Amino acid sequence: MLNMLVTGGCGFIGSNFIQYLLKESDFSGRVINVDKLTYAGNPENLMDIEKDLPGRYVFVKSDICHLEEVNRIFKEYSIDSVCHLAAESHVDRSIVRPDVFIRTNIIGTFNLLECTRTARDQLELFHHISTDEVFGSLGKDGLFTEETPYSPNSPYSASKASSDHLVRAYHKTYDLPVTISNCSNNYGPYQFPEKLIPLMILNAVEGKPLPVYGDGRNVRDWLFVRDHCTAIWTIMKQGKRGETYNIGGNTEMENIRIVEMICDILDEYKKGEGNQSRRELITFVKDRPGHDRRYAIDFNKIKDQLGWTPKESLESGLRKTIQWYLDNAEWVNRVKSGEYKSWIEEHYG
Ligand code: NAD
Ligand code: TYD
Repeated sequence: MLNMLVTGGCGFIGSNFIQYLLKESDFSGRVINVDKLTYAGNPENLMDIEKDLPGRYVFVKSDICHLEEVNRIFKEYSIDSVCHLAAESHVDRSIVRPDVFIRTNIIGTFNLLECTRTARDQLELFHHISTDEVFGSLGKDGLFTEETPYSPNSPYSASKASSDHLVRAYHKTYDLPVTISNCSNNYGPYQFPEKLIPLMILNAVEGKPLPVYGDGRNVRDWLFVRDHCTAIWTIMKQGKRGETYNIGGNTEMENIRIVEMICDILDEYKKGEGNQSRRELITFVKDRPGHDRRYAIDFNKIKDQLGWTPKESLESGLRKTIQWYLDNAEWVNRVKSGEYKSWIEEHYG
């Protein structure tokens, strides 16, 4: 893997993955980051890489839905491996505007597969990043395994399920060297503050209401983003072509409990207005339509076959995440005010 195409590298997981790959892992090649820079993409996240490692990092502002453009990038940079992260990723947005999800997540993935099929001879690997949400919702018991039938419930998860099927089909039909990973909810530095954890941290810091959907008893498994990055790289290096791997954090938790943990950690720093506990900001709001009740993941396959396990507990990961958001107030302000968009216009047009 000398010339790795990373799609969506300016997003939350993509930024963390490129940082990990170029600064910490044993990857010795070059990363070509293709990102359209939607509201969720912020190239500032990789400014240090762009400055410090110019020979090993190239950024191309482009849309994976433009087949000719992607084909050109494959040729120009002699792409020999792909880590595909670009997607529309937020369930609430998919309920309001499913069309963008169908376009990027399905058509975009199809385009990339078509390009890799054309460049088949030089392609070592196409790794596709997906979600445990494709499996649908669990009852009180049980875990998603790699064999759990797909049963997606939101336009987001249905679009991701569709892209997973395409990747699998290209392996079966065209013998494309692919791997797929389905992971649980990520959290950590650089996450756009529309997802549960950063939204709650920032609202709690500002003394704003903490909107918990429904009864707050929905359960998610939480994966610290750096653990996800090490898992992706492990699969890319050692995973068996054609196989799928589940990745989890071993941290099942009800939403309400997560929000309470965030409040309690922030209270340790400084109590809220009038010395109140931040738990008083918790506000139950109307439930999300089609809200999946419980996700939980069995990651024994990657653990037993590839020797990967998550390092972070929920408590330690949350503390690191909260500290990062407190230490990076400028990043937060620029992202929340949309100011980073004018910076992007200036730099990338
Ligand atoms: P994100 O929304 O933070 O970032 C997505 C990135 O993709 C952005 O930089 C955006 O500009 C880019 N992008 C969007 N449309 C594009 C297009 N048409 N062409 C090129 N670039 C485009 O998402 P994330 O949270 O970093 O998620 C990355 C991947 O991981 C996604 O495939 C997502 O489905 C998957 N995933 C995320 C989670 C999670 O908890 N965040 C969990 C499981 C799986
Ligand atoms: P989210 O971070 O949107 O991830 P996903 O929907 O992909 O799991 O939401 C995580 C959980 O938190 C989910 O059960 C919905 C809930 N939630 C809230 O209760 N309030 C909120 O403001 C948000 C954004 C999410």
